[in-house]
Amino acid sequence: MGHDIPKLREFERLVFFTGAGLSAESGIPTYRGDGGVWGKYDYREYACQRAFDRDPAKVWLWHDERRAAIAKSLPNIAHELIAKIQGQRPGTRVITQNIDGLHQRAGSVDVIELHGSLWRLRCEACGSRSENFDLPLESKHCDCGNWWRPDLVWFEDMLDMPVIEAAVSAIEQCDCLVSIGTSAVVYPAAEMPIIAMRTGALTIEINPEETPLSLLYAHSLRGTATELMALLAG
Ligand code: OAD
Repeated sequence: MGHDIPKLREFERLVFFTGAGLSAESGIPTYRGDGGVWGKYDYREYACQRAFDRDPAKVWLWHDERRAAIAKSLPNIAHELIAKIQGQRPGTRVITQNIDGLHQRAGSVDVIELHGSLWRLRCEACGSRSENFDLPLESKHCDCGNWWRPDLVWFEDMLDMPVIEAAVSAIEQCDCLVSIGTSAVVYPAAEMPIIAMRTGALTIEINPEETPLSLLYAHSLRGTATELMALLAG
């Protein structure tokens, strides 16, 4: 496949569209597949509003433990190359399904977080947000009196409309979309790369395994995020 690999330096308005596989080489487990989070934990107990309403302490403990594990992980070379490309070409946008904040720690800016962030809290009652994620359980309450919950898109939650609009607009304007490490089964995020295919941007998929959308990409590359990003960015 060597000679068929496009070079990212030929594009000005790149979109990096990323999922859990991008952070796998930073030691953060993916959701599906071997060792996946949803193979070990039932989302109905930890990752939906109903679970939170039933037992906020249990849901908070689980998220606090995930955040502590992620705090010990480092961005990998793929996160770093994305940030470097964005630094060189400011038209580059990063759209992620990840909640780990590793793009920002690698230096990417204006990251569009489709599924929210483990580093923010939100109040479901009044819509306020906070970055004071370190509060002890008894103080995890908004000024309006309601519980702070993680500012994530849990199962059965809606995505934020302004966030979807920002993602769609970035994809409509891009000349190249690189999808990295997503299983392409969670909607509506999964279908977003299709917009780039329709507008004529070059589309590239990086994933060690085939996904339901692989055949639609101009280049569907089998390999890991770090090895293939090094190749594409070279
Ligand atoms: P998944 O766990 O569904 O898929 C991870 C993908 O990464 C798979 O297709 C793997 O083949 C691929 N992968 C594994 N190792 C890789 C590596 N080193 N380099 C590149 N790719 C690799 O994760 P997502 O598609 O991100 O939602 O899942 C989408 C959403 O489902 C998540 O955002 C999460 C989950 O429920 C929320 O948290 C709201």
